[in-house]
Amino acid sequence: MLIRSRRVSEPKPSEITPEAIYHRRRDFMRAGLGIGAGMLLPPMAGARTALDFSPGAFGTDEKHTPYEDVTTYNNFYELGTGKADPARNADQLRTEPWSVRVDGACARPGNYALEDFLSPWALEERVYRLRCVEGWSMVIPWVGFELNKVLSQAEPTGSARYVAFETILDPDNLSGQRRPVLEWPYVEGLRLDEAMHPLTLLAVGLYGETLPNQNGAPLRLVVPWKYGFKSIKSIVRITFTEQEPPTAWNRAQPSEYGFYSNVNPDVAHPRWSQRTERRIGEFRRRPTLMFNGYADEVAQLYTGMDLKQHF
Ligand code: MTE
Repeated sequence: MLIRSRRVSEPKPSEITPEAIYHRRRDFMRAGLGIGAGMLLPPMAGARTALDFSPGAFGTDEKHTPYEDVTTYNNFYELGTGKADPARNADQLRTEPWSVRVDGACARPGNYALEDFLSPWALEERVYRLRCVEGWSMVIPWVGFELNKVLSQAEPTGSARYVAFETILDPDNLSGQRRPVLEWPYVEGLRLDEAMHPLTLLAVGLYGETLPNQNGAPLRLVVPWKYGFKSIKSIVRITFTEQEPPTAWNRAQPSEYGFYSNVNPDVAHPRWSQRTERRIGEFRRRPTLMFNGYADEVAQLYTGMDLKQHF
């Protein structure tokens, strides 16, 4: 049988990763060839949708973690507890239709279809470091918009002090939610000033495309100065509260996971040190930086607080 082989330098369209497309588009943009932030790439079979975004503030020049690692080494317990499970079980997450409820202590609560929730906001790219409490880290080009836009539009009342977030509850489809590994749905919370901080992002994409399900489609939080578990995925509800809201990992293990969960090399997890981290794709461990390297931007949020007590 004669099999015609392709030269290795010619990848099949299905083998071209969004990372490759992303770098190609970046090269075009740099070369000033007229392909800019306002243009969409033609969708590829089986691929997610390309997003229309502009470069954002707070970037980093550090090498991006390869797309392959960002999308196959995940924590998303609704899709399984192993690192490879979320990518393998990604189609258990049904993202259409999707709605987001904004409620609690605010003057303008609402229940929005995803399109309506997103349509007022221009998207921008934010390259953020993500430091997992387990000791690994990545650098990811997210696409999204500042959470404070949604929060301001809802007009929080004077009594709102915190913001609570909730992930979709769908045990019929999400096999992880049929097991009591965490209390479902996954919940998270921020103090209102943390939630309003311009670094806090609602992400809808990475590497220039809509979020893969395993990374929290269609909408997730990214709080780059906190351990990765604060960045709740697949959000369906955002609630202004007067009291500190419960968080999934604090409920599961209060002695190991506090409400604040700021990246802090000086506060060890009870079972391991947080002094160093391994950047995925690198061999040598590197020192973990206070607030994950975002101290200049966020340290003033915690002036006067004992961060060993409020870990
Ligand atoms: N959100 C939900 N709903 N369920 C989860 O299990 N895991 C958290 C966080 N958000 C999690 C979640 C943890 S522990 C981490 S480290 C980050 O997602 C990982 O994000 P990534 O898989 O996109 O790197």
